[in-house]
Amino acid sequence: MQRHFSFSSGKLWLSPMESVSDLGFRTLCSRRRASLTFTEMIRADGLVRKNKATFSLIDTFDRSVPTGIQLFVTKPEILKKSLEIIRPKIDEQDGRFSNLSVIDLNFGCPSPEIIKLGGGPAMLKRTERMKELLMILQREAPLPCGIKIRLGMNERERQQKVYLRIVEMANEVGLDYLTVHPKVASDDSGAPIDFAALQEIIDHATIPIVGNGFVVDGQSARRMLDMGCSAVMIARTAVGNPWIFEEIDHYLKTGKEMVVVKDYVNAWKEYKAIAEKYGAKEKYYEYHRRVFELRAKGDLGFHSPSRILKWV
Ligand SMILES: Cc1cc2nc3c(=O)[nH]c(=O)nc-3n(C[C@H](O)[C@H](O)[C@H](O)COP(=O)(O)O)c2cc1C
Repeated sequence: MQRHFSFSSGKLWLSPMESVSDLGFRTLCSRRRASLTFTEMIRADGLVRKNKATFSLIDTFDRSVPTGIQLFVTKPEILKKSLEIIRPKIDEQDGRFSNLSVIDLNFGCPSPEIIKLGGGPAMLKRTERMKELLMILQREAPLPCGIKIRLGMNERERQQKVYLRIVEMANEVGLDYLTVHPKVASDDSGAPIDFAALQEIIDHATIPIVGNGFVVDGQSARRMLDMGCSAVMIARTAVGNPWIFEEIDHYLKTGKEMVVVKDYVNAWKEYKAIAEKYGAKEKYYEYHRRVFELRAKGDLGFHSPSRILKWV
């Protein structure tokens, strides 16, 4: 079990995405050069309650797919207990939890349900609690670990630069990485990212920074890496388009754009084979089926799971 994370295997990470990032989708991206993939956000208290559905979100099975577990947690004792539960699973030989590579905590989710619990970006100002969580994570996680943050809850917090205190804590604790989606919770999904704040974070950090937000092609990835990011994390552009990792990887290596010929029908078959072998939940299956179908018909836009699943 490796406790130190190395970026040498690649700089292109697949973001955690709720209702999207199941085993089949993670595998498709990994086979096309995503160097690290993530589960969607998993509620740590669900693990502690031994909820079967929550556990199934960690299933990896495929030893060739490096996978990070992303946890949502607000209470130190729940974090401790969930790490105790995860630790022995990593050593199990049955392959169900194969190739777990990192443990990540989510402090970026802007959903009202999460904010109401004092979690996600609402945690950035709860500095005592945050410090406690980070210390437990660093001390007790059986794998390399990091966190994913936004810049704060709103414009006022952005102005106050609440994020810099978190960078300092992450430095002090010595996390393996800090992923930054440089927006505040009140920004809508189309709002541009704050490159000045990202640069400020990179300059303050003594640990690797991973940039996230609107990485859509080789040039947008190059921009973040040139700023000093150690890797970039890609979400929406990968949906229905796992080839994005190959295209960006090619650009980073050669400086030239490459457009892969995309066979959506076969990508769907590839997903389906994995989903059927390991038993994907229906909502993921239906979501990816519809996304690949739309792509094959020429619709290359991003459609969220809530929108697509309403249609079926
Ligand atoms: C459908 C969907 C689900 C998401 N679920 C999560 C999640 O579970 N955990 C998380 O940290 N971020 C989640 N995000 C945010 C993404 O990981 C990412 O930070 C955001 O989409 C910006 O990256 P992008 O511009 O590449 O899409 C989600 C985003 C989308 C679109």
